[in-house]
Amino acid sequence: MDSQEFREFGKAAVDYIADYFETIRERPVLPSVKPGYLGDLLPKEPPQTGESWQDVLQDVDRIIMPGLTHWHSPRFHAYYPTAHSFPAVVGEMLSAGFGCVGLSWIASPAYTELEVVMMNWLGKLLDLPEEFLNCSEGPGGGIIQGSASEVTFIGLLAAKEKKVKALMELNPDLKESDIKGKLVAYASDQSNSSVEKAGLLGSMPMRLLPANAEGKLTASTLLEAIRQDKNNGLIPCYVVACLGTTPTCAFDDLEELGPICNKEEIWLHVDAAYAGSAFACPEYRYLMKGVEFSDSFNFNPHKWMLVNFDCSAMWVKNAKYLVEAFNVQRIYLKDQHKGLAPEYRHWQISLGRRFRALKLWFVLKIYGVEGIQKHIRHQVDLAKYFEELVGRDKRFEVCTSSMGLVTFRLRGNDSLTQQLLEKVDDRKHIFVVAGRSDGKFVIRFAVCSRLTEKRDVDFSWEELLSQAEEIVPSKNKINTELSDKRSIASIELTDAAREKIRMEKSK
Ligand SMILES: Cc1ncc(COP(=O)(O)O)c(C=O)c1O
Repeated sequence: MDSQEFREFGKAAVDYIADYFETIRERPVLPSVKPGYLGDLLPKEPPQTGESWQDVLQDVDRIIMPGLTHWHSPRFHAYYPTAHSFPAVVGEMLSAGFGCVGLSWIASPAYTELEVVMMNWLGKLLDLPEEFLNCSEGPGGGIIQGSASEVTFIGLLAAKEKKVKALMELNPDLKESDIKGKLVAYASDQSNSSVEKAGLLGSMPMRLLPANAEGKLTASTLLEAIRQDKNNGLIPCYVVACLGTTPTCAFDDLEELGPICNKEEIWLHVDAAYAGSAFACPEYRYLMKGVEFSDSFNFNPHKWMLVNFDCSAMWVKNAKYLVEAFNVQRIYLKDQHKGLAPEYRHWQISLGRRFRALKLWFVLKIYGVEGIQKHIRHQVDLAKYFEELVGRDKRFEVCTSSMGLVTFRLRGNDSLTQQLLEKVDDRKHIFVVAGRSDGKFVIRFAVCSRLTEKRDVDFSWEELLSQAEEIVPSKNKINTELSDKRSIASIELTDAAREKIRMEKSK
């Protein structure tokens, strides 16, 4: 393909994406294909001779589009948001177009240098303590990683490095393998699956401690676990606190957990994968009070900050522990710029690096701080509106509501809510997933798409109501409302209302 054809293909692809977004609201959120559908649509062998780009684009429409789940449909309410914006899409396009791999500073100075500046911008946007920033005097700094899962794992490896070194310095007779076999990590049972996985990958038992009724890990639970483990000869090494848990968007209290970790010399990592974006708005920063006690902090602009996947921001107070854990030298990778620019390959698992800072830059530059704040506030308002709608219907109960996530259920046995979820997802008009709150089966409703508006929340609520109607008919709802009213203030009932109750009863 020559550059002229590339121009045509590229422009047609951009048009295709724009058309897709203009029609996304009308598409059922979930696809109707069955497992294995795609294998039947493609030949078993690769084509012997090349085909035209027009054919390829037609195949996308015929084969790929029917198998897409429309994550950016305004009626997609599952999981947490995955970010999307046109500036970020163009950033990805240019990054692929340049096609460099930033494995060292000299491999493309702009890659490293833009990332340094973007991580400072982003840190300032969230009002993180200065010591985390690349522009601070100290050894702290920020880097873009691929995912929160990766970051939690990298934090664990750095914590291990720090703990082993410290103990061996104190007692040179200790063997590294003996120390490593005794290290233990902690998080709450509300933490994301990736936290448990980090423990598995890093060969460090991750104790999932019971959260309280609000979904938080309390100081007393953590202290008790540390005490037990120390009594059993284990070495507490790593705590993952969560700001915005996956099940209910609960916030651990860093002011409670932080001092314990600092006193016990345990690495404190903060996983704010989803909710971290909200700290761009000053009114939510009270939820990250105590962040100064942490050793590493992470949030995903690729969740709620309009930067397409992948873009996971990680800051550490002292990058030395990352570099010491990951620094492997080779003659062809000589660090020529020590101290002047970070060699980010020593801060991460892979050698090669994508130019993720470009899409982040485009989003920050084109939306500006105000645009990002507006986006977050709008989505929180929509979730509040949904909460209000649910709260108005006595057949339902709101279980939790935090940021852009509401969990709710039909009153009564869990099976009612399970049925509702199955019915709604079968119809594919909206997409919600199951969760658990305080031991009960709930439906999670997250405001995900940047396209979601009040009318979409109304649509989704109507869809839920229409299916709930088949499980708990609103006849019961009227009865509840009337009987409730009677029990609170029966004298306020008009004659007409009394007559209505009598008629209902006699049916
Ligand atoms: C609190 C929390 N942590 C971590 C993750 C994992 O994020 P990633 O897909 O970037 O690894 C999620 C995903 O939803 C999450 O909600």
